[in-house]
Amino acid sequence: MEVFLMNTIRFTNLPGDGIGPEVMSTALKVLEKTGKAYNFICETADHDVGGIGIDNHGEALPSSTLEACQSVDAILFGSVGGPKWESLPPKDQPERAALLPLRKAFELFANLRPGNLFPELADLSPLRSDVVSNGIDVLCVRELTGGIYFGQPKSTRTLEDGQKEAIDTMIYRTGEIERITEIAVKAAALRGNKICSVDKANVLETSVLWRQTVSECINRLDPSIELSHMYVDNAAMQLVRDPNQFDVLLTENMFGDILSDELAVICGSLGMLASASLGTGTNSSGHPFGLYEPAGGTAPDIAGKGLANPCAQVLSSALMLRYSFGLEDAALAIENAVKETIRSGLRTGDISQGEPSVGTAEMEEAILSRIA
Ligand code: IPM
Ligand code: MG
Repeated sequence: MEVFLMNTIRFTNLPGDGIGPEVMSTALKVLEKTGKAYNFICETADHDVGGIGIDNHGEALPSSTLEACQSVDAILFGSVGGPKWESLPPKDQPERAALLPLRKAFELFANLRPGNLFPELADLSPLRSDVVSNGIDVLCVRELTGGIYFGQPKSTRTLEDGQKEAIDTMIYRTGEIERITEIAVKAAALRGNKICSVDKANVLETSVLWRQTVSECINRLDPSIELSHMYVDNAAMQLVRDPNQFDVLLTENMFGDILSDELAVICGSLGMLASASLGTGTNSSGHPFGLYEPAGGTAPDIAGKGLANPCAQVLSSALMLRYSFGLEDAALAIENAVKETIRSGLRTGDISQGEPSVGTAEMEEAILSRIA
């Protein structure tokens, strides 16, 4: 008799606000079905985060949620925020008050944002069809726990003449640059073996150090990688001019924030884009701890109506299987199921181009039926 050892994967799921709970529900069903085919069981519990955290516990990242995340190997995150909490001071709003402390608490320094546009959806891109007819496939690797987001001092004060003065500080150390470069190198090796590092070395000291450290690090780790450097203003321009000149884009926190939104919009629909934020060290399954989230927002206008596109959340769960649990085959199975569903012509409202659109349930059904 053959004995199969079932692999148990442990993660928290944080559905959050708006469409978060609906699309999370789809992702969990897809994971469960995938587990049956690929021999793993999901052990997961949901916890409040974001606006619902503020409503139920008085904070966007309740301590109970943080503790639950500390006892697992990964976080599957929905999305947070909405009109209800928009009048709060910026630092208390769900997006910032939940995400930034989570990134810091788990030192999630590596943010991977795949910019993919399926050729079938090329018409959704705001770019000219001759530029995107073959689709887009660019990976943005963004440093996520350093730079101007977290550097101290960070403050506002009133000067003697009555004006106010605000300071943010941009700091990078070589260690921070090396570890994100290593991630980019690993990612590039699985793709086109090409990295474009983006900085502002004509103006910023941190960028001079960035450029130098990235060059040295790649030289040491894998000189076969085709490395180029680009100033961020030029990169922003090149990305709309000819996105497929890039394979892996490697950049610091704030430039990555901006360029990854640009990459997302040229890919046509936020409803299709996933992301991964990886930490240092290894989790109990020997892989990096990570937080996985769709790139789109909470879409308050369609929340609770069963119209949300679950693809980005489902694709985020595939990234979780790949990076935090080493389940590459299962991850590919999910990604292929989503691809096949899109190929079959099924469209939620956000990706429909005139054809009748379906709701979350039909999309879910179609994805589930394609998990072998
Ligand atoms: C993102 C978001 C966050 C960021 C905000 C919500 C703090 O824009 O994940 O890109 O700036 O990193
Ligand atoms: Mg952003």
